[in-house]
Amino acid sequence: MFIRCARAVAVGSTRINESVLGRAIWFHLWYPSKMKDPPLAATGLVPSGILEIFPRIRSNGEETGMTHDARLVRERDFHNERFSAPEERKEDSFYFAVKPAVDAYWRLVRAACPEREVLEYGCSNGMSSIGLAPSAKRITGIDISDVAIQQATNAAVRRGFSNVTFQVDNAEDMKLPSAGFDVVFGSGILHHLVLEKSLREIRRVLRPGGRAFFFEPLGHNPVINLYRNWTPDARTVDEHPLLKSDFAIVRKYFSKCDLEFFGLATLASIPFRGSPLGAAVRAAGEQIDNLLLKIPGARWQAWIVVMALEA
Ligand SMILES: C[S@@+](CC[C@H](N)C(=O)[O-])C[C@H]1O[C@@H](n2cnc3c(N)ncnc32)[C@H](O)[C@@H]1O
Repeated sequence: MFIRCARAVAVGSTRINESVLGRAIWFHLWYPSKMKDPPLAATGLVPSGILEIFPRIRSNGEETGMTHDARLVRERDFHNERFSAPEERKEDSFYFAVKPAVDAYWRLVRAACPEREVLEYGCSNGMSSIGLAPSAKRITGIDISDVAIQQATNAAVRRGFSNVTFQVDNAEDMKLPSAGFDVVFGSGILHHLVLEKSLREIRRVLRPGGRAFFFEPLGHNPVINLYRNWTPDARTVDEHPLLKSDFAIVRKYFSKCDLEFFGLATLASIPFRGSPLGAAVRAAGEQIDNLLLKIPGARWQAWIVVMALEA
């Protein structure tokens, strides 16, 4: 009886492992902790279609496969296309679940900007910078997408703000002068970049004691990673949601690095986002997250991290 059961389990697990779904599940559950050095094709366990959608770039600056320029061109083209025909992606509505993160990020940015020289890093169509223009001394927005920068410039001119300028620039090697800014902020940008290069650049353009704020996705939660890999068209192939190990690079460039984690139990509110129940489910999730995300291991399973850095 025991031998029969053991054989059934062995045959079953081999079948699961051999099926495409089985390989995908195996890989995705395994992937988060090994993201830096997946054995990929070497194991023969990962179908090549899945390999295509994994980041080819590593946060420490090494790149695999593509050249530096090819990656930048790919990022620019992807975002140019997106900004040329703006339409809400289904994923955008998922941010309903992390409204507390959005609020926390904006509280930090709004408090830091009044009367300051501010840089928005990866500004896209400039709406955030334009929103801060009445209080900041001056705001500069940079982005690699010329389509987004044109839209941002048009919007600033239409609204008559003379203290906001936008320019096409590469966040990893900016044309901006050193020590020119009191505040740098950006959402959903660091995970598109080679962290080592971009953090060095942010540190360079900040004045001593300057501050930086970021809203970024994390890459440890296997369920979120599974979803990401099922929907590759929603993002560029070079994106690499941040890992715990990436924060060693952050701490290399910033004397202070405060992190706040959001979006674990609140993710349960996503299916209710269009219903009157949505806010209540999210509020209940928030209470649970307030406890869960204080646990050192559990917090890295969150979707979003809000970073407050000081040079
Ligand atoms: C996910 S979008 C976020 C945009 C905006 N911050 C927001 O929250 O809506 C990422 C942005 O980063 C820009 N980007 C990607 N790589 C870049 C680079 N190397 N230099 C400057 N901008 C870059 C893209 O063009 C895009 O606008």
